[in-house]
Amino acid sequence: MEYHIDELISEEKINSRIIELAKQIDEDYAGKELHLVVILKGSVFFACELAKRITIPVTMDFMAVSSYGNGMVSAGEITVKKELDEDICDKEVLIVEDILDSGVTLYNLKVLLSARSPKSLKIITLLDKKGNHETDIEADYVGFDIPNQFVIGYGLDYAQKHRNLPYIGVVVAD
Ligand code: PRP
Repeated sequence: MEYHIDELISEEKINSRIIELAKQIDEDYAGKELHLVVILKGSVFFACELAKRITIPVTMDFMAVSSYGNGMVSAGEITVKKELDEDICDKEVLIVEDILDSGVTLYNLKVLLSARSPKSLKIITLLDKKGNHETDIEADYVGFDIPNQFVIGYGLDYAQKHRNLPYIGVVVAD
């Protein structure tokens, strides 16, 4: 398919929003330590920029998952492709995602990680396609609500390409 990319959210807007989110997190977790659980691969760019702007103590771990579902979601419909290195028991855990789309991944992930007894478990996502949710899941922190368009950049891929775009773009067929 021939296509071009239209800019949806500029690098400047993303940077400003990440600064706001980090400030909010600093306030919400004041006096605590925060453990970021970064979901590979798309979230890496967002997670690094966010972590650099948080001033409370932060630790990071990484996980890769595949999720399956068509709206009929139940616990267990998730395959862990790369397991966390560290136990999350008793930790203040913040799951970092690049996009909440159908919500199947985060729904299943929350079920899986809740069972490991974290002290708290919250979700931050850079992008949220609120109109697309098929599951009962909401992020605690959202960068931007976006319409149902195919977005790439800032970690998000199209056939594994374009993750390194410094802005969020929309794929438009020519
Ligand atoms: C994307 C994204 C979320 C999931 C969101 O990951 O990072 O994990 O899809 O979709 P959902 O809300 O409909 O479940 P993807 O499987 O594309 O992997 P990647 O981050 O490695 O590109």
